[in-house]
Amino acid sequence: MRMKVDILTLFPNMFSSPLRESILGKAIEKGLLQIQTLNVRDFTLDKHQVVDDAPYGGGQGMVMKVEPIARAIESVKSQNRSAWIIYLTPQGKPFDQDLARRLSTRPHLVLLCGRYEGVDERARDLFVDEEISIGDYVLTGGELAAMVLIDAVSRFIPGVLGSDRSAEEDSFFNSLLEYPQYTRPVDFRGSRVPEVLLSGNHAAISVWRRREAIRRTSLRRPDLLAKANLTEEDKRLLEEVLQSIGDHRTRNGDERQK
Ligand code: 6GU
Repeated sequence: MRMKVDILTLFPNMFSSPLRESILGKAIEKGLLQIQTLNVRDFTLDKHQVVDDAPYGGGQGMVMKVEPIARAIESVKSQNRSAWIIYLTPQGKPFDQDLARRLSTRPHLVLLCGRYEGVDERARDLFVDEEISIGDYVLTGGELAAMVLIDAVSRFIPGVLGSDRSAEEDSFFNSLLEYPQYTRPVDFRGSRVPEVLLSGNHAAISVWRRREAIRRTSLRRPDLLAKANLTEEDKRLLEEVLQSIGDHRTRNGDERQK
């Protein structure tokens, strides 16, 4: 299963380095991921290659014109009719791990990156299949959001993470935050690695990690914990955690989150 992603943007250079490093770079080398940037300006027909204009009705800023966007999308669709057109906008559906997983099953994504005050509404009405936001804050354009989406989606493509790992094993898959990790040295300026991790007792290590994942989620993201499918053993560990947090708080005052 490989995926093709076409990015429609006024700033194709923004994508050159980030996607060619590390895991995504290897995925592209292996042919699992094919990413192409298309400059919307190349789809203008006028001498000055104008891509934006003042909004009808007045107001500040500029709006991306519909014709170059239409021509760019039609060019992509003429190659591949099954292309799924996504517009990155803070008005879109909130992006999360479930949406990333769903998008990873599509063979061809087209990411339209808006700039300025966004795109002419008719581009959205006529050409866009889905609108996505990566969070409740405002970016200067959709480009960084597109990179976030590509990164999260690519991790679900078989082979991208390497043979022994799958995105389904990640913490959000089972709705808990990850447990704390340590590596050498055992003692850093008097701060020690928890003894159980040095014990070689794999059953005890598993229980400790599960408990710490539950502790961390309970303290930082109670909203996730409420949605999690906890086993009876998990519920017992949660009781232990709440007990120890209660004890800790009465001793030290409330200190819930870093
Ligand atoms: Cl997708 N675009 C922009 N411009 N800002 C955002 C966003 C997208 N998601 C969150 N903020």
